[in-house]
Amino acid sequence: MIQFLLNNQLVTLAQLDTNTTVLDYLRLHTHQTGTKEGCASGDCGACTVVLGELNAEQAGLNYRAINSCITLLGALQGKQLITVECLAQAERLHPVQQTMVDCHGSQCGFCTPGFVMSMFALWKEQPAPSHEQIDVALGGNLCRCTGYKPIIQAVQQLSHYATEDQFSAQAQPTIEALKAIQNPSSPALHSAEQQYFLPNTRAELAALLVQYPEARIVAGSTDLALEITQNLKQLALLVGVNQVREMQQLQVLDDKIVIGAARPYSDCIEVLQTHYPAFADMMKRLGSQQIRNQGTFGGNIGTASPIGDTLPVLLALNAAVELQQGERVRLVNLNDYFTGYRKTVLEPSEFIAAVHIPRLQAGQVLVVDKVSKRFDDDISAVCAAWVLTLKDNVIAYARSGYGGMAATPARALNAEQALIGKVLNPTTIQAAQQAITQDFKPMSDVRASSWYRMTVAQNLLERMSLSLIPSKT
Ligand code: FES
Ligand code: FES
Repeated sequence: MIQFLLNNQLVTLAQLDTNTTVLDYLRLHTHQTGTKEGCASGDCGACTVVLGELNAEQAGLNYRAINSCITLLGALQGKQLITVECLAQAERLHPVQQTMVDCHGSQCGFCTPGFVMSMFALWKEQPAPSHEQIDVALGGNLCRCTGYKPIIQAVQQLSHYATEDQFSAQAQPTIEALKAIQNPSSPALHSAEQQYFLPNTRAELAALLVQYPEARIVAGSTDLALEITQNLKQLALLVGVNQVREMQQLQVLDDKIVIGAARPYSDCIEVLQTHYPAFADMMKRLGSQQIRNQGTFGGNIGTASPIGDTLPVLLALNAAVELQQGERVRLVNLNDYFTGYRKTVLEPSEFIAAVHIPRLQAGQVLVVDKVSKRFDDDISAVCAAWVLTLKDNVIAYARSGYGGMAATPARALNAEQALIGKVLNPTTIQAAQQAITQDFKPMSDVRASSWYRMTVAQNLLERMSLSLIPSKT
């Protein structure tokens, strides 16, 4: 069974369609229809709800906005699901609702519950946010009639309303209630033909996957859930990994950073900002805040998409993936991991446990560029990453990673060779621009033509070279 708090009510579920999304559960099972369905694919934010979770010390609560349309019910285990219905108390609106009224932040109102929930999560974590923090928090919520200015003003006004709400007053009882429901039994959910397991340890996960090699692994489900909501598939055997404690690690070691495969992106950005600022800047444009609160490195590596945003950067950084099958654990360099379009060296019953990212060495610089049609909440047409060392204006080291240019994320080996050992100047960059045409024959699709992709990849080499020139200011 799984147990969670729906607002403040304890819910216990055991038998249910295991492919049920949180959105469908709310709207179809509990008839709480305040949470809206727009795209059903994680792109519009109409379905935004908030998860309250125990922090690492189990002494406080963290609040995260997520897209309920692409979250499966199993992800709620041990958490508090907060919906728009419980914000107002009797006739009194919650501060995030009242400020929307006062700033005229809603017209047709379809997007408003989603905005309000994103604002609620932001207000709980950051009561007086900067403009940039507001943009980041609301980047995954689309409004088609009000326009964003009044909504941003509504968030900016929030600090004038209140600093506490009923959730602050109820924090201690909520913490105790969540502590009491931390260990799910197995299987967590089932129906006549389906099972959804939630192992607590890597050993349990490994044993389950040996028993059920055909099981699908659920991490953030930002990709997997689309098979259910868009392709209308029924997935019979699911194994969720977000309860596996070892796969939530985030360790900064002398020579590398190890990120557990189930750790959400948003938890990693601060560490990335310290050690690889260009990586962190790109990550802020990976999906939306809701997606970053759900999506994981393990999921991005597992789907092996040629346009997965973290993969080019991990390739350039010479990262390796830690894989486990039964009791066997092996480390595979990411360069050797992809074998074809969405194909990898992963064997049956094998899973990604962590990603190991080498620390940058003295003098090394990481440059990352993502080019997409929209700045926020969009998929790359091309993503380029380079790690370079420049000594006396000579390129001593160059290692690349590209997304959107081939069937897999891949290095531009010819372009690397055109750079290494050469003086950084326009002639060298022109040689690399020529060489990269030997590395890739990109395809045309809805996002970009082959010509556009190659032109962008060549132009990004010039942009990369300009970013290496020390600023005179
Ligand atoms: Fe659009 Fe969920 S309905 S993000
Ligand atoms: Fe109509 Fe935002 S108020 S879509």
